[in-house]
Amino acid sequence: MIRTMMPVRPGQAPGTNTGRMKVAVMGYGTIGRIVAQRLAEGAVAGAELVAVTSRSPVVDAPALVMDLDDALQSAEVVVECAGRDALRANAERILDSGCDLIVSSVGALYDAELASMLERPHPGTLVCTNGAIGGLDVLAAAADAAPFDSVLVRSTKSPGALIQPWMGDAEVARIVHTDGPVLVFSGTPADAARLFPASLNVAAAVAFAVGGRRAGTNVTVELYADPAATLTRHEVEAAGPVGRYSIRIENLPSEGNPRTSAVVPYSILRTLAARTRRPNLIG
Ligand SMILES: NC(=O)c1ccc[n+]([C@@H]2O[C@H](COP(=O)([O-])OP(=O)(O)OC[C@H]3O[C@@H](n4cnc5c(N)ncnc54)[C@H](O)[C@@H]3O)[C@@H](O)[C@H]2O)c1
Repeated sequence: MIRTMMPVRPGQAPGTNTGRMKVAVMGYGTIGRIVAQRLAEGAVAGAELVAVTSRSPVVDAPALVMDLDDALQSAEVVVECAGRDALRANAERILDSGCDLIVSSVGALYDAELASMLERPHPGTLVCTNGAIGGLDVLAAAADAAPFDSVLVRSTKSPGALIQPWMGDAEVARIVHTDGPVLVFSGTPADAARLFPASLNVAAAVAFAVGGRRAGTNVTVELYADPAATLTRHEVEAAGPVGRYSIRIENLPSEGNPRTSAVVPYSILRTLAARTRRPNLIG
């Protein structure tokens, strides 16, 4: 699923793609706005912003705002910053166009329809960003050596960031009025992604790193609400035949969206930079 080759569009001769990688940003919200603005400022040496797509009206985009079909005419890679539904609706179209797709809504890949679509070959390549978590390289390497015996992903967020439309009044009150840390969810990464679609992409990213999309039986996700959590905390504890790994990350929530950590757009820019021929950031 994850490759690092430069994309070649249908009808384009290999080797003619000598310029910067042309990027369309899908979604101009908390993440997409920063990704697009930083790209337009030249933050990724080997990439240029050619389009923004947005469901809501945009007045200050640093590139032409166009619909996805038009964006796919010029882009070589689409960066999804638009959420699970947008990914479900558009992933196949993007990959079939020959564009690569960098995904931020990683948990959406548990969706059965999306997963079966990805089983089929496409001219474009789908890549997941690390997003708000790190250390996935060593976890993936250890899992390549031998499957983990157990992996625990424990995320702790402020209560307000965890309320979901499916929760009943009593559950909302339990979370919102708690005095200390309270367990909101314990289960598989797939259930975490389904129940907390914009909040537990980290759990999916860890699960995919240690075992691919079908993995999850040895991965447990715990989600806590903590009124004292000014930072969003992700702790990973993994144990297996080749080692034991503890990763602890505390991220500042972004101003625009308490569910999204401020580091995420910059993590996406790193993912993008690594796919260019000049895999560095310049400012
Ligand atoms: N991997 C990670 O660590 C991580 C962390 C945080 C968020 N995320 C993912 O990133 C997504 C975006 O986060 P955000 O904080 O920027 O959300 P946001 O709500 O601030 O912005 C999303 C934007 O996408 C737009 N949009 C929705 N559907 C669209 C479509 N079909 N085409 C174009 N634009 C569309 C919306 O109008 C909105 O402006 C989240 O839904 C979440 O799944 C991933």
